[in-house]
Amino acid sequence: MEQYELLKRKIDYYDQGHLLTFYNELNATEKESLLEQISGINFEEIEKAYKQLSNRSFKQRSEITPIEYESISNLSDSERKMYEERGLQLLREKKVAVVLLAGGQGTRLGHDGPKGTISFSDSTKQSLFALQAERLRKIEKKTDSIVPWYIMTSPINDKETRDYFRNNNYFNCNPNQIFFFKQDLIPTITPKGKLILESKSKISMAPNGNGGVFTSMKSNGVLRELAEKGIKWVFFNNIDNALVQVADPLFIGFADKKGSRVASKAVKKREPGEKVGIFCLSEGRPSVIEYSEMSEEECEDENFFNSNIGIHLFSLSFLKDTVNINLPYHFAHKIIPTINENGKTIKSNAPNGYKLEKFYFDIFKYAESMSVLQVLREKEFAPVKNRSGEDSLESARKMLF
Ligand code: UD1
Repeated sequence: MEQYELLKRKIDYYDQGHLLTFYNELNATEKESLLEQISGINFEEIEKAYKQLSNRSFKQRSEITPIEYESISNLSDSERKMYEERGLQLLREKKVAVVLLAGGQGTRLGHDGPKGTISFSDSTKQSLFALQAERLRKIEKKTDSIVPWYIMTSPINDKETRDYFRNNNYFNCNPNQIFFFKQDLIPTITPKGKLILESKSKISMAPNGNGGVFTSMKSNGVLRELAEKGIKWVFFNNIDNALVQVADPLFIGFADKKGSRVASKAVKKREPGEKVGIFCLSEGRPSVIEYSEMSEEECEDENFFNSNIGIHLFSLSFLKDTVNINLPYHFAHKIIPTINENGKTIKSNAPNGYKLEKFYFDIFKYAESMSVLQVLREKEFAPVKNRSGEDSLESARKMLF
């Protein structure tokens, strides 16, 4: 009862008293679980995020200018060789680790389960996870090394992801080289900043965006481990690019030789409406502006054609220096199951709330500079985002096989 009183006072203070509307109808286990959920929520952070939501507008963005880049097609044979050799050397010296961002929910795809389990055939051997494992093993063979592979999951898909790897014998990787760590969840909110009950005893929560990766790397001891292992470069990639060249030596060498502490691969934007972020400078600092936050004019601006494909290298020193920076939230307007006044869970047919998400690329501006390598879409970017049509399993299959 004491805990109830304490938490009730807390949520009343933050104007979230509705969370306990059905408390008296719950059984003991449900009561306990709801109170536990409430006690784990950082209401102050949500209040701050909500203020950000109510104040946002396209116009507030600072002016953006194009970012310098190099095109892989313009590299001479000797430059390619130099970068590749350097990358291979760093891999041989065990100075590279990989972080796979796999905590997302893949809602656009409607796939049940972790996105990495989507397969190009009936066999798990052709799943997105399997393809990435296979590519990593190839590099390891070539360099006679073992690359530490950190896989970020969320509390929603963590168990399934781990089970999937175990049941598939870790896709012939060494189980000791694979480390899973979880990102955090954060409550979803209504347009008025209220937390949402998805049932009488459960607050609706969603992963806090891929920008949650940095704090989760710290809180799960990943940064410390990387330092202990003597890692210099951390290769980041998304789960859903069927063509990603995991731990690509040429890219590693490129990043290392260029001397910036962050490097990214880009491809030319396919068309103005393509759902990709674009690389640019914002107030002179490296940035990505996300497609969901660009005006139509900005989407059509031909000065901004280098798309983010979610492939980056961060030097460990940069990650350590920036990990305590509080990244802003972005707001995804979504349909979020919620209960009606009778306590019944309903799903509206239009977006009714916001997911709060951090984007990892908001850290870029803290790098003095960034090296961008524009690569060929047909060789390196086959995203699996939609059920059918563009950027689907079908379109990726055509590029892959
Ligand atoms: C993302 C990029 C976009 C880029 C596009 C290329 C972000 C915010 N946007 O868009 O700039 O052009 O990929 O394909 O990255 N993830 C988590 N935890 C989360 C949310 C996402 O780990 O809470 C992971 C996903 O599993 C995925 C990656 O982050 O591997 C990208 O997320 P996704 O939601 O697929 O982003 P897109 O909208 O496709």
